[in-house]
Amino acid sequence: MHSDGHVHRITLVASDQTVECEAGDVMLRSALRAGIAFPYECNVGACGNCKFELVEGEVEVLWPEAPGWTAKDRERRRYLGCQSAPRGDCTIKMRPAAHYAPKHTPRRVTGTLVARRAITHDIEEFRFELSDDMPFEPGQYALLTLPGVAGQRAYSMSNIAERNGRPRELHFQIRRVTKGQGTGVLFDVLEPGTRIGIDGPYGMAYLRRDVKRDILCIAGGSGLAPMISIARGVAAEPALGDVKLHFLYGGRTPRDVCGRDMLEVLPGWAERLHFQAAVSDVTPDSESVWDGHVGFVHTVAETVFGEKLRDMEIYFAGPPAMGESVQRALIALKVPFEQVHFDQFY
Ligand SMILES: Cc1cc2nc3c(=O)[nH]c(=O)nc-3n(C[C@H](O)[C@H](O)[C@H](O)COP(=O)(O)OP(=O)(O)OC[C@H]3O[C@@H](n4cnc5c(N)ncnc54)[C@H](O)[C@@H]3O)c2cc1C
Ligand code: FES
Repeated sequence: MHSDGHVHRITLVASDQTVECEAGDVMLRSALRAGIAFPYECNVGACGNCKFELVEGEVEVLWPEAPGWTAKDRERRRYLGCQSAPRGDCTIKMRPAAHYAPKHTPRRVTGTLVARRAITHDIEEFRFELSDDMPFEPGQYALLTLPGVAGQRAYSMSNIAERNGRPRELHFQIRRVTKGQGTGVLFDVLEPGTRIGIDGPYGMAYLRRDVKRDILCIAGGSGLAPMISIARGVAAEPALGDVKLHFLYGGRTPRDVCGRDMLEVLPGWAERLHFQAAVSDVTPDSESVWDGHVGFVHTVAETVFGEKLRDMEIYFAGPPAMGESVQRALIALKVPFEQVHFDQFY
């Protein structure tokens, strides 16, 4: 929160545009709300993509330990847009990039928890009813402000906007993280009726509705939600009626595998929507026998699809280590960069 509760004016040097930053907001998000194509990725201080240079004025650094902010940045008056709030009027230098122009203006709403259900032993779905609409594209994420937790946590939506584009509910599929502050509150403190702050939508790895190539969705661990949203978006989009979608889920052991039941109920299941799963840990656990793929998702994708990957539109989500392996595999296979979409889950 800002110390003074005022609206401050941010001037962008390159374009001479000005943006109003309201109390409790940050540089990056107030610029995106004004339609400015401010580069970013994670919104949670990890990736470092949202850096700007402070030319004039003063900012409050909300999370000084953010992994995306270095000592060198500090010396050069470079700050993270997602972790700094203006202390008064400011002038900043950043390089807008058209790719980041928001498709839907991000907005701050209140979400009331209306339902929870278990998906696996450590993933649960949380459904929030919104105080106001939040249009979004399949694959995008929102920021949750949780009681007693510093900063925000990013979670991808698993549902899609209704045909008229005005969703009043957001569904998240969240994996419990050992000793995680945010997931600790989500799993142990939140009860139906609890209200939290939700800000969104954000993210660039959304469904490209104008591309008619077949699709591969790769989800690892907690990366289930945005890929389910994309699959639901494809099933619901008449313009993509001829597009085939392959869904590949990667987990550590068989009891981690999920997602199939959510695809089976969609129109086009088994005809143009297909599901496969891989586990990396071959030791069978006590509850299930495994007859799917064994290995990491990037190797399985390579084995199953091979050179066909070059003609596919590829979406993936999951932990950074998986993201790096998938990217490396796709580069080695010469899959064009423009056909690959992901936001890393820091
Ligand atoms: C774009 C994106 C989408 C994601 N989607 C999903 C999803 O659909 N499902 C899912 O299970 N997980 C998702 N994640 C991961 C999720 O955001 C959390 O990192 C994860 O749940 C662990 O949170 P935690 O609070 O339990 O763990 P912690 O270890 O307590 O917190 C880790 C996260 O909080 C941030 N953070 C920590 N302290 C602060 C602070 N003081 N101020 C500001 N930020 C702080 C860190 O950058 C890091 O992102 C996504 C992440 C990103 C970036
Ligand atoms: S560090 Fe700000 S967007 Fe990732």
